[in-house]
Amino acid sequence: AMRPSDGPGGDGRRRVVLFPLPYQGHINPMLRLAAALHARGLAITVVHTETRAPDRQKLPGDFDLVTIRDGVAPELAESDDVAPFVLALNRSCAAPFRDYLAGARDVACVVADVDWFAPLGVARELGVKALPLMTSSAAKFRVYMAFPLLEEKGYLPIRESNLDTKVKELPPLLVRDMHHEKDEARYRAYAHLLSNMVSGVRQSSGLILNTLDAIEENGIANIYKDISIPVFAIGPLHILSPSVDSSLLLQDRSCLQWLDAQPPGSVIYVSLGSLMSIDAHELTEIAWGLVASRRPFLWVIRPGLVRGREVSELSIELQEEIRDRGRMVSWAPQQEVLKHPAVGAFLTHCGWNSTLESILEGVPMICRPLGGDQLCNARYVCEVWKVGFRMVEAENQLTRGDVQVAIEKMMGQKEGDEIRERMRDLRDAAAKCTSKGGPTDVSLQRLVGFIVSPYT
Ligand code: UDX
Repeated sequence: AMRPSDGPGGDGRRRVVLFPLPYQGHINPMLRLAAALHARGLAITVVHTETRAPDRQKLPGDFDLVTIRDGVAPELAESDDVAPFVLALNRSCAAPFRDYLAGARDVACVVADVDWFAPLGVARELGVKALPLMTSSAAKFRVYMAFPLLEEKGYLPIRESNLDTKVKELPPLLVRDMHHEKDEARYRAYAHLLSNMVSGVRQSSGLILNTLDAIEENGIANIYKDISIPVFAIGPLHILSPSVDSSLLLQDRSCLQWLDAQPPGSVIYVSLGSLMSIDAHELTEIAWGLVASRRPFLWVIRPGLVRGREVSELSIELQEEIRDRGRMVSWAPQQEVLKHPAVGAFLTHCGWNSTLESILEGVPMICRPLGGDQLCNARYVCEVWKVGFRMVEAENQLTRGDVQVAIEKMMGQKEGDEIRERMRDLRDAAAKCTSKGGPTDVSLQRLVGFIVSPYT
């Protein structure tokens, strides 16, 4: 490990070492947690890989940053096949992480993404408290825990014939909401990752969840019942320290002025997250659907969103139509966009961060989950909280008609008003849960106490 900055501890303060998985959706919650712990008097070291390293300049000056040379091929890092990349990272980073941690002073605990099972194991071996952070939902973690059971009961691997089977152990999930993996080797890699992840968590000192009682009270309680180690539900992490900018891409802030000029509740914000990609056909269908809705829209088309293309090439005709009504950016200041009064709906892939950000701002969701945990998140959005709906099932091709109909339904009165009302109630419940003295706040205080308590 190399140490680009000074300040390796030794100042008598209790230090927390945080190690995010190098994905935008994992870096954001981890760095917000770092800032929240810092604000409560703990010294902070952020260990990060060379792959997708956070920007030093944007982080508080007294964070200590440690770079691990991961040596993982960039193609693997860019792929949306997560398991082989995460397994390779665990293999290559364990030894350098051990070198670093063995020499670090005053470390009260290591907080690492649940995916970092090898570094968490290193912490335990060195007698340092290991606290995994699950950046996604409690429901998804329950799927991880239940994976062997789901195989044993024949739900998995997924077959065409059982897609609509209800997973009665994990309502309201259907088999189609589980991670789809047709390739045998890839399925095995995924199962291997999950089994390492869950057993690593079970051996740890506690588990931090990026969720809150207001939306997942049962899921949180069930995890605690199952793993019987302390569980800290301190989400949503994005509101803990909103001033930390952990964005890997440059946010185009000019769209905020454009939003200022739009009527309240009129704009559809469209973003499919940082990781998954769509094909050129889907891009065109979304574009025509948006244009046909005749409503203003703000659309994030990040580099790499469209498979097989360097830049998204839309026809000139379509580009002209879009210019009249919409605004395209390559990356948006999403939290501020969702907070903006002009935004009336979020066409989203239901990444967990996006879902939490949308709920906290009370923006109803038009769902287009693309894979991974997004399928499970979308099921909760649509069927548990009922603050959004899917345009089509995940396996189906999306047409411009689907997009247009969904926007009309959401922005219109009948169903739209009902969804907006439920969304307001959910937002209020979340706000109460996260206010001073509420369950999230209490859990965070408990977590800080737990971090500074002696390791037994
Ligand atoms: C993926 C998974 O889908 C997610 O569920 C998992 O927990 C992390 O990995 P991702 O595609 O990154 O997530 O989506 P999401 O979890 O929603 O995170 C995206 C983050 O990027 C959000 O915090 C969002 O605010 C931010 N973002 C997104 C921007 O800052 N600007 C944008 O234009 C789009």
